[in-house]
Amino acid sequence: MPSLEVGVRALESAKCIKSKPVQRRCDVLRAMPPSRIAMAYAEFARLPDGYEIRQLTREHLKWVRAIVGHTMSFDSPLWRDAPYEGGATQRAYDMYHAMKPSSKQCIDSGLSYGVFIKDWTKSEAKLRWNVEDPSCTRDDLLKQMDFPLVSVAMSKDLTADKLGPRKKFKSWAEIVPPHGTISRELKRKDESRQNREVKHQTPQAGDVVRRSGTHTHGDHAGKGLARALAHFVMDRMAEKGYGKILIHTGDAHVHKVWANPPAPHTAVVGAVFETANHIEAGPETEGKHNPFGRADVTCSRIWVLLGEGRKIEKTSG
Ligand SMILES: CC(C)(COP(=O)(O)OP(=O)(O)OC[C@H]1O[C@@H](n2cnc3c(N)ncnc32)[C@H](O)[C@@H]1OP(=O)(O)O)[C@@H](O)C(=O)NCCC(=O)NCCS
Repeated sequence: MPSLEVGVRALESAKCIKSKPVQRRCDVLRAMPPSRIAMAYAEFARLPDGYEIRQLTREHLKWVRAIVGHTMSFDSPLWRDAPYEGGATQRAYDMYHAMKPSSKQCIDSGLSYGVFIKDWTKSEAKLRWNVEDPSCTRDDLLKQMDFPLVSVAMSKDLTADKLGPRKKFKSWAEIVPPHGTISRELKRKDESRQNREVKHQTPQAGDVVRRSGTHTHGDHAGKGLARALAHFVMDRMAEKGYGKILIHTGDAHVHKVWANPPAPHTAVVGAVFETANHIEAGPETEGKHNPFGRADVTCSRIWVLLGEGRKIEKTSG
């Protein structure tokens, strides 16, 4: 039973019951309140001191959207150098608006988690952006993200409804048009190859988690937060009974983390897409071109098989 194994590993790592025999450890785990187990998981994933992992709720919605908008506009190797009318700050605001329905959907799924600064004593936690002011710099916007949430891993069930674009604001596809090319190409390549490990019948709710959003606040990047959160999410989804996680990556660090999960989980890279090699027909007057400009990123579609792929047998076709 994955939840118990994972929990025992977490508790062993937390050193609180290491000396006890395995059966006794399992009994201890069964009797534990969820909050204590969550703490043990966090320790297991080696989260640096001063941070904790919590499930995201509606009260975090604006913070999530700001972290996504800011990191995608200023830090993403795919989009940070792409030209944008109004500049990167305007793009961050447009992304912030565009993200609302999908962020809400992922939060409401109950499958999305974040890393928080543990003891937030600074001030009233608040997003202080003025989305009408395009003159703010990257650093201004970071300072105005005056809240304890610093890293997010957004997810939903693969069978969740597809959302339409927002009417009042630019859609994600309008903000970063080549994004659709990456998704389409990764899916096409993955589905057209012999992929026995992850071939499955149409998934049912509860089978596959669709990960969609890995972002760390720029001032907290490079500390291992995204990795710790990823390991936590893998263990947590296994515990919830999911068999697989599907993720598209657009960053080498994210690829590294998700393509190399800790045991008992394993990963299969279903497809890769190199932005630097991509040429497509542009508007008639421009001829063929690369819509990714200077971005040289290997994007990937990864299946994480949870708990040594225990559920794969059930779903393989
Ligand atoms: C990509 C991103 C999520 C990484 O978050 P993070 O919390 O800084 O990542 P971590 O610190 O957990 O690092 C994960 C791995 O990448 C490495 N890494 C992270 N930042 C690095 C850097 N600037 N240079 C070199 N290596 C780096 C870490 O060493 C770690 O490797 P390890 O597991 O071998 O130690 C974050 O930088 C970000 O939000 N980027 C912009 C948005 C984006 O592109 N998101 C990805 C969409 S798929």
